[in-house]
Amino acid sequence: MKLSFLGAGNMSRVIAGSFAELGHDVFLGSRTAEKSNAIAKAIGFNARGGTNDDAAAFGEVVFHSVRTVPSTFLSDVSVLNGKIIVDLNNRDFPRDFHGEEMLASLAVAVQRDVPGAKVVKALNNQAMEALFPKPADLRRAGIQSFIAGDHSEAKATVSELLVSLGLTPIDFGPLKYAWLLEAQADILRTYMFATGNFLATPAFLLSPEAPARFGERCKGEY
Ligand SMILES: NC(=O)c1ccc[n+]([C@@H]2O[C@H](COP(=O)([O-])OP(=O)(O)OC[C@H]3O[C@@H](n4cnc5c(N)ncnc54)[C@H](OP(=O)(O)O)[C@@H]3O)[C@@H](O)[C@H]2O)c1
Repeated sequence: MKLSFLGAGNMSRVIAGSFAELGHDVFLGSRTAEKSNAIAKAIGFNARGGTNDDAAAFGEVVFHSVRTVPSTFLSDVSVLNGKIIVDLNNRDFPRDFHGEEMLASLAVAVQRDVPGAKVVKALNNQAMEALFPKPADLRRAGIQSFIAGDHSEAKATVSELLVSLGLTPIDFGPLKYAWLLEAQADILRTYMFATGNFLATPAFLLSPEAPARFGERCKGEY
């Protein structure tokens, strides 16, 4: 398949490399054709490089990993009409953010309401159906349960309780991150309501380790 890439950054390089290796016809675009040509050459497998305009024209599927809309860097977006655009982008995520400023957290509200208590966010991402199985069965299935809170002893106690239920606690850090677990529940419930599958439960899975076939993570622009 003809696959092209807008921007020749980290994600484009690795995904383009993997598809090229699988035999797809791969074209990397960049603001500078020299850069994408050099990356395509390093990838091998007949990968090619050029400008972003060339890439937009080339692909049946166009992978978009530039954190802005195409009209800001393509001379003519109409070449994308009828094509599939895979948007890989995430908004900037400030490392020192304060979650409650981005999204009001129910758990933070409880902590503010009862300042003398030790609030731990937990169990908001398992539907009741996911807790129907006996502990041994949940343990065997490796069901993770995310928690957040500011008091380590309180989190340790809650973690022990979760373990006794057969769950594997995942410490997501301080209570200011509870809003992320609440947003995780929004994702989960959107899926549940769409599918009727209330057994879905979030987890971190680890990819197998492997050498960087198409180069290590470079200092990118994002
Ligand atoms: N890295 C990850 O692990 C990862 C995982 C999932 C999603 N993402 C998302 O994928 C996107 C790309 O991430 P990345 O790590 O690949 O970033 P990156 O290495 O910084 O690459 C982004 C590329 O975008 C192009 N670019 C930047 N500003 C531009 C502009 N004003 N106009 C046109 N092109 C511009 C540049 O390509 P040229 O220099 O070739 O023009 C740059 O190399 C981001 O939205 C990120 O949040 C990243």
